[in-house]
Amino acid sequence: MKICRTIADCRSAVASYRRADESVGLVPTMGYLHDGHMALVARAREAADRVVATIFVNPTQFGEAADLDAYPRDEDRDFALLEAAGVDCVLVPPVCEVYPEGDETIVETTRMANMLHGLVRPGHFRGVTTVVARLFNFVQPDIACFGEKDYQQLQIVRRMTRDLGFPIEIIGVPTVREADGLAMSSRNVRLGAEDRQAALVLSRALAAADEAAARGTSIEALQALIADTINGEPRATLRGLDIAGAEDLSQITGPLTSPAAIMLSAEFGGVLLLDQRVVSP
Ligand code: PAF
Repeated sequence: MKICRTIADCRSAVASYRRADESVGLVPTMGYLHDGHMALVARAREAADRVVATIFVNPTQFGEAADLDAYPRDEDRDFALLEAAGVDCVLVPPVCEVYPEGDETIVETTRMANMLHGLVRPGHFRGVTTVVARLFNFVQPDIACFGEKDYQQLQIVRRMTRDLGFPIEIIGVPTVREADGLAMSSRNVRLGAEDRQAALVLSRALAAADEAAARGTSIEALQALIADTINGEPRATLRGLDIAGAEDLSQITGPLTSPAAIMLSAEFGGVLLLDQRVVSP
């Protein structure tokens, strides 16, 4: 596996794949990899001849410097995991190359970034689209894989890719869960034992919503069911509960008549966790 510390190095690796007529898949990450990331790598390997992963803890998508500083990092372990998973090249660019001195260009989906989770994390999705657009330009892949766990992010990246005409297929990869149902996340290691147990309420609430949706229900009833389930767990503080059209995140009310995305965020002992599920009538 080639480790590239500069964009130029990565571009030359990708150019060698292109000369051999090989397709390129991209897996953008912020490192501290877990099985969820490995599922993205596995999917990228199926879809492309070569896989390029990126590790970049993107400062522009963090609201508070403390959150950025607290973000866990373990580069050597990440490299070992990526290599074992068959990644061909990993780009670990320095901040000064991704955001050069005097940088003033941003990329933003104006509607989708400023709704739902975007309201509780102002500027977050602007940071995501700005860095993903740059990574797309650095690597110029044919396909790129993103987890469904960050559902709003996935749909925003799809919209940005379409709007800017990037010739890249965006592949959404289903959420990978621990055996007990907790969605895998780099933040899980920051949970104490009791909060780790309490966090199972997220997947439990989503499973209950899925059953209710299949039986026939309304958006309002789903909202109440999920809120009651989360609020019934004393260690959980519900931060966000949004139900929107699965495709375009449009606002929906009344009877559930088409697939809807439920996006959930809750805090456990100061650690914000996300989970998501698409439910259908
Ligand atoms: O999902 C993530 O890890 C990040 O938001 C991403 C897509 C790598 C951009 O920094």
